[in-house]
Parts: sequence; C-alpha cells; structure tokens
Amino acid sequence: MNQTIASSIRTIPGHPKPGINFRDITTLLENPKAFRMTIDQFVQRYMDQNITAVAGIESRGFVFGSVLAYELSVPFLSIRKAGKLPAETISQSYQLEYGEDVMEIHKDCVKPGDRVLIIDDLIATGGTVSAAIKLVRQLGGVVVESCFVIDLPDLGGSKKVQEEMDCPCYSICEFE
Ligand code: PRP
Ligand code: ADE
Repeated sequence: MNQTIASSIRTIPGHPKPGINFRDITTLLENPKAFRMTIDQFVQRYMDQNITAVAGIESRGFVFGSVLAYELSVPFLSIRKAGKLPAETISQSYQLEYGEDVMEIHKDCVKPGDRVLIIDDLIATGGTVSAAIKLVRQLGGVVVESCFVIDLPDLGGSKKVQEEMDCPCYSICEFE
C-alpha cells in the first residue's frame, strides 16, 4: 500500500451517521503529490490494456476518472444519480451502505464492444459499482475492471463484485 496516498486520506468518525468511519478523499485531492501518485498508479496499470473508455461514478469517481481518461486519451463516460443526465438514459437501482439510490447512464455513450474501465473513489458494499457494471454491460460494453482509490474489505464489496458480478476489482488502499 502506498503510504503517501493512504496517509493523505482523512477519517471522519460518525459521518454521515454513527458507526460509519467516513474515508474522506478531499484531503488527498488537496495534496498534489498524493493526487499525482494516485493517477500515475492507475495510468501505469491501464495504459497497455486497450481501454477504450473510462466510466466514472458520481460524484467522486468523476474527479479521478476524468483525469485518468485524459491521460489514457479515451472518452470519459458519466454514471450519475437519477434525474441528472439530460438525454435518453437507462437506470439501475442499488443498495448503499447507508440508504438506497438509482444510477443512470446515457443510452448512446457506450459503443458495443467498448472495453470500459469503471472508476470510483471507494468500494464499500459494492452496490454502487455493481449497478454501474450492469448499466455498461446492458449497453454492450465489456467491463475490463473496476478500480478504486479505497477498498473497505470488511464490507465485502470487492469480493462480491469479483465473485457475483465476475468483474475484477483493483484498489490502491485498504482501510478497516
Ligand atoms: C460513496 C462512494 C461510492 C459508494 C460506495 O458514494 O463514493 O460511490 O459510496 O459504496 P458501496 O460500495 O457500498 O455502494 P456516495 O453514495 O456517498 O455518493 P457521493 O459520491 O455522491 O457522495
Ligand atoms: N461510501 C460508503 N461508505 C463509505 C465510507 N465509509 N467512507 C466514505 N465513503 C463511503
């Protein structure tokens, strides 16, 4: 685990409700060295994998995903909370660690056979990324991998996504 990156992430106990240790990546983004190391680690991993699009999950997946798409010179695709995308969409509901929500993607943004990398800041229960994988696959894309800055392995999401969604997960840091 990269200590510069891991130590740049702040923990807020009890946010957004008691019992949650919120892993806050705003402090990573405020640290240029840690931010650059994070992006560089993803670029090194994916530069030779024939990725044809990077799909970022709202909202913190947009920050990392847009820079990564730029570096890989491939399209950035937006996976957003319901009601935000203006053109025709498909939807997928999912359970959160603390609630329930719906994700959407524009129907025309994935080209059949696209080799898509899905990115978010964090995987907890895996509900969010599972919805994203279903959306990309429904449009004919191949999800090459899902990647995260942070995995919370105790919540079982990465294991579940690999086993039940048959999608590899890669993360830079693990936290309890
Ligand atoms: C967080 C995080 C992931 C998701 C992971 O987003 O950025 O998207 O939770 O949880 P899961 O693996 O249990 O599904 P959040 O729902 O807080 O939304 P936000 O990025 O809009 O704040
Ligand atoms: N999303 C779901 N669980 C989270 C956590 N513990 N920290 C930050 N974001 C989260």
